[in-house]
Order: sequence, then structure tokens, then C-alpha cells
Amino acid sequence: MWERGIEEEKVLAELEVASSHDLQFSDGRIMGSMCTLPRPVSLKAHMDFIESNLGNAGLYPGTKALETEIIEQLGQLMNGRNISGHIVNGGTESNIMALWIARNMTGKKEVVFPKSAHFSFMKACDLLAMTPIEVPLDENFTIDLDKARWAISDKTAIVIGMAGTTELGLIDPIRELADFIPSNTFFHIDAAFGGFVIPFLNDMGHSLPDFDFSIPEVSSMTIDPHKMGMSTMPSGAFLVRHPEHAEKIATRAPYLTLLNQTTLSGTRCSAAVASTYAAMRSLGRSGYRQIVRDCMEVTHHATARAVEMGLELVTEPVMNVLGIYLPEGKEPAAVQATLKKKNWMVSVAENPKCLRLVIMPHVKKENIDSLFIDLGDVLAQ
Ligand SMILES: Cc1ncc(COP(=O)(O)O)c(C=O)c1O
Repeated sequence: MWERGIEEEKVLAELEVASSHDLQFSDGRIMGSMCTLPRPVSLKAHMDFIESNLGNAGLYPGTKALETEIIEQLGQLMNGRNISGHIVNGGTESNIMALWIARNMTGKKEVVFPKSAHFSFMKACDLLAMTPIEVPLDENFTIDLDKARWAISDKTAIVIGMAGTTELGLIDPIRELADFIPSNTFFHIDAAFGGFVIPFLNDMGHSLPDFDFSIPEVSSMTIDPHKMGMSTMPSGAFLVRHPEHAEKIATRAPYLTLLNQTTLSGTRCSAAVASTYAAMRSLGRSGYRQIVRDCMEVTHHATARAVEMGLELVTEPVMNVLGIYLPEGKEPAAVQATLKKKNWMVSVAENPKCLRLVIMPHVKKENIDSLFIDLGDVLAQ
């Protein structure tokens, strides 16, 4: 590495150059990310707790109390009672922890999940030497229940249900899926995105399918404060119904201030715990409702623009994720690449192939209008 350091002003100038190459959520041009600008109070909280590390929780009882409160609040939001868990680095880490517990608890290897599941489950299977069993989707792009029934067997360690798929924001029929879960099998719900959306849509009168601890078979859940929870990154929450299940991954932690660690990470960015607390405490349920209401308004604005242009939606959006079919002969990846040249960061989905927009709180109606003007030009070429 560098032998001699340089003046701090020069370092900051170098960082400024690097940062100037990055996109900013505030530009309103990022429509392929499930993260967004955190609340200002969360940014402040993050900085105030920058020293904290719940990997060595005995040193930080104040931060630990915040984590306990967040887990309690999220457990209630997910219709559970006395739910345990941790704030971790995000959805991937939570999903890995669910598989890890299931493998240790059941001694089995098979992981049954819908084709719409996030790729973190493939990563987790690889890490934990478990076997992925991918269930095809039905005509609604959610898990095919008949096929799921056949995929679940006495070799199944864990079944995954999706509450807000990454590609389209759809919800699997989780109560129906629960009917096929054998009693000694773990049932994990990935609500990384939907967990901070579905309850607030239901508050507004939507009747979305049950997806949480109200279903007795559900063992654990992923829900990410750094997505629609408005926290800084990295903040994911892993929730588990029975604390003894979390103990299945307990590792003795000699030389630290706690006996065991029950997270995948050792040292954890606990500034994000304070940030998550700040977002949840300052917004409350009514604040999140307003954020989700605004996102849905912009989402419906985007669907209207798409339909005006003669484009077909993959499904009516359930939440603020939108799949749009392109006309024949137009490859989503090619259109995405051309839009990127115009500084639009949209995404594509594979199941089915389409253009994918994630309408996070930083995306406004005027951004949608400008995007669709450029999309019209691109499609006309
Ligand atoms: C449904 C779902 N689960 C898990 C993840 C992984 O989350 P992270 O990137 O925070 O690890 C994502 C990411 O978009 C997701 O959409």
C-alpha cells in the first residue's frame, strides 16, 4: 500500500472525484434499485452510532436495547408475538441464516423455493451445501401450488415463500403453501421488500394475501429496513418465531462480551440499528402509509404512461414494482442498455422477460414522464 499518507484535503478531493462518478438517488434516475434515500434523521442517527458494534454486544447495551425494540416492533408489524431476531446486513444475510437454522435443525438438505425467489437462496444453498429445488411459477407468476406440493418431501429442510418478489413485487399464496409444510420442516418468508409495503397497503383497504406470523406454520421472516424501511444501508432484519431455533446457529464467542453469536456476521454495522430505529420511530405506521401511498401513486402514473404508449403490463402492480412487456423484436436488455446511455438506470426481469421499474420514494412523477419520453424514442428507433 501507499508508504506515505497525504493531506486530508487531498484525500477528500479524491473521494469527491470518485463520488462524482456515482449516481445519486436524488437525481430520480435510478429505477432498478430496491434501496432509496434514507430519512435525514436516520443519517444523523447513523453517524451518532458509528462506533457501535453488536457483534460485541456487551459493550453497547444502549444499541442492544434499540435492536430489541426494533425486533419487537417488526414482530408486531408481522403479526407475531414475542418474536426474536437480529438486525443484520440485509436480505441475503437473513436468507442465509434461515437456511442455516433449517439445515441444523432438521439435518436435511433440500430447499424448496419458487423460481421467483431472490438469487440469495442459490448463494445460501451453495454456501451451506444444500440442494435447491426450484418450483415453477403459475400463470400469475407466483409459486405453482400443485408443483410445490410434489416438490416438498421428507427430504425438505425448508420451504420459502415470497412476499414481494424482486422482479414483480408479487406475493405467493403463503397460507395455501403452509398446508403442505410437514410439521418438522422450516417455513421461511422472504418479505425483504414487501414487509415494509404490504401491511401499509392493507391499512389503506387493500386485501392482500396473508404472508406473515399470522400463519402458524411460518417459522422465520426476512424484512429489510434498508429497502422500503427508509433506513441507511446496511440494514436487514431476520425474525424468528421460536428463540430456540435461532440457537441452532449459536457459535461460542470466546474473548467477546457475549457467550454466543447467533448471526452470520461477527462485527456488525450497528449504526444502521440506530438509523432503523430513527426511521421507524419518527415515521410510525402512519408515516410509512404515506410513503407507500405516494409510491403507489407514482407507480399508477407509470402504468398509465405505459398503457398510453401501447405497452402491456405483465400484471397490474400489487406494490411499487412494475413489469412492462416490450413490443416484439425489442430485447429488454438492449433497451435497458440504450436507456443507460441516456442516464436511466432501469432493470430487466427474466420471469417473464420484461422491462422492470422499481418506483422507490426518490422517483417522482416528473421522472417517470421524462423516462417514458426517452423510452418512446428508444422503442421508435
Ligand atoms: C426479495 C428479496 N430478498 C432478498 C434480497 C437481498 O437483499 P440484499 O441485497 O439486501 O442482501 C432482495 C434484494 O433485492 C430481494 O428483493
